[in-house]
Amino acid sequence: MVTVVFEPSGKKIKVDKGLLVLEAANDAGESLDAPCGGKGTCGKCKIYLKEGVLGDITTSERKKLSEEELAAGARLSCKAIIKGDCIIDIPEESRLGKQKILIEGAEAPVIVNPLIKVFSAVLPSPSLEDSKCDWYRLEDALADNSGHETITMDISTLRQLPILIRDNKYDVSVTMYKNHVVAINDSSVKNTYGAAVDIGTTTMVAYVMDLSNGEIVGVGSMMNPQIPYGDDLMARISYSFKPENLQKLSNLVVEGVNKIISEGCEKAGIPIESIAEVTIVGNTAMHHIFLGIYPKYLSLAPYCPVVKQPIDFMAKDIGISINPLGNCHMLPVVAGFVGSDHVGVILSCDIHKSPEMTLAIDIGTNGEIVLGNEDEMICCSAAAGPALEGSSIKFGMRAANGAIERVKIKRGSLKVSYETIGNIKPIGICGSGIIDVVAEMLKAAVIDVTGRIREELEDENDRIREGDQGYEFVLEWARNTGIKRDIVITSDDLREVQLAKSAIYAGTSILMEIKGITAKNIDRVLIAGAFGSYIDITNAMTIGLLPEIPMNKVKSVGNAAGSGARVSLISKDKREEEKDILKNLNYIELATHDSFQDQFVSAMNFPHSDLSLFKNVMKNVYTPLPPK
Ligand code: FES
Repeated sequence: MVTVVFEPSGKKIKVDKGLLVLEAANDAGESLDAPCGGKGTCGKCKIYLKEGVLGDITTSERKKLSEEELAAGARLSCKAIIKGDCIIDIPEESRLGKQKILIEGAEAPVIVNPLIKVFSAVLPSPSLEDSKCDWYRLEDALADNSGHETITMDISTLRQLPILIRDNKYDVSVTMYKNHVVAINDSSVKNTYGAAVDIGTTTMVAYVMDLSNGEIVGVGSMMNPQIPYGDDLMARISYSFKPENLQKLSNLVVEGVNKIISEGCEKAGIPIESIAEVTIVGNTAMHHIFLGIYPKYLSLAPYCPVVKQPIDFMAKDIGISINPLGNCHMLPVVAGFVGSDHVGVILSCDIHKSPEMTLAIDIGTNGEIVLGNEDEMICCSAAAGPALEGSSIKFGMRAANGAIERVKIKRGSLKVSYETIGNIKPIGICGSGIIDVVAEMLKAAVIDVTGRIREELEDENDRIREGDQGYEFVLEWARNTGIKRDIVITSDDLREVQLAKSAIYAGTSILMEIKGITAKNIDRVLIAGAFGSYIDITNAMTIGLLPEIPMNKVKSVGNAAGSGARVSLISKDKREEEKDILKNLNYIELATHDSFQDQFVSAMNFPHSDLSLFKNVMKNVYTPLPPK
């Protein structure tokens, strides 16, 4: 065993030689960012060796780290092997900062009528003339109130039944899921609680709700504890190929769900055992991993999920620490890359019931897109890649403290102004900042419609310069950053953004083509998810991430996936509608669609067609300044 000390925290851990630094850091409770899941391709898990010995520098490290960085002791923690006692410094930029977590979400109004209900039951005392069994006695007492002629109960409830009804003098309150008894309490208990949970790849949120009135009484949230095993879904799926790793990721997310429900309950001042039902949404990989279902085939063509339909099971079956007899309801998934989070968006925004032609987009590593209305809906998943979440961008990072989130570039002087999360010195740039900077570079004519940096542009402050990856644009100089290096946007970064926005745009275009409509026929555009809430939508249109639709038709709906879990929790009608959505929603596999390649390639350039709708924002884009 050797000792590894992590700086600046001073955390110390004894590990076997041969372990990766990233593994040792995870075991020591250090939060290192590892977006590519240890493949050595993102370069974001950088650490510095201060003392001691690590294994030889690998090819991936030579590719991702500069000569100066290597000379200063920089290594990729996912590739560097521990060979002896060492002291490792984790720089601020490699730390997993807590991301802004999106809680709010819009939802269409629903009538509160949950599947979990509390009924009062006054049972006649048994006598020699009336020696009915306790079960029938309770069943009869509930029949009028609940409308259920028969009831079911678990063996553990049955064991307690004689005591509970007698201790409470035959006057009890019964919590039921459909006709199943979940809890028997004294008659003073008049209501019960539930939790709606959104398991995102990056963040998780639990809404604790009073089921008597549908109000949110407490919210808990956290970063997804699986992040150290990869930022994106593919990394987590690959990690789960080994059964023991699947178990590890499943346990982590179950523990996480318990933690956020418990946080919500604490805020509401209620015990976690008073939660009688949990509804859960998540993308298909999160859904499978949460349930401990082998997710391998989600990553292999034809990307079949193991199960699509809604599933219900007892909380205790999976280790969810609410009332052990409480119900867990997983909303249905649609396809390998269109999960129950997207069903949640459709359900909460009533897309399936509205006559309005609706386009709803949830932008992430995969952009899930649905187009349709009450008649029929079609959906797809566009593989946007990690650029819009910052992973494949040289100075990209999560939307955490120190991330540049808003950018303006003055045309002519190219003066840059920006805002960072937490109002501190910048250490990188997050998704909303990336959209802004590309749009601003386009508007200031720093780049042309092909995404080429115009090195010939008049630039008195030398922000445009040649770097290791071709031309780059300096957003901020080292002296003003929190990482003591210039923060730049490289030509490669621009290419990554183009690939991402083309995938989303092509996905949208294909859905419109299949429906036989154009952007003009779309009545409303809903942008769901954290990314959609923080981006400047005008800038997203400027770069061609979203189709040309008048701004008054575009609405950000926040965490609509979480809203979907909430409406499913408080309305049995909504729960039924989940099945209707599955019937009415056709999934399109983009890769197999004839025109996908053409649409994708033609969307690579920044918009150059009908810009009349955006005259105000686009007026400077196509009048480049004269060359030097
Ligand atoms: Fe190490 Fe990506 S390079 S996690």
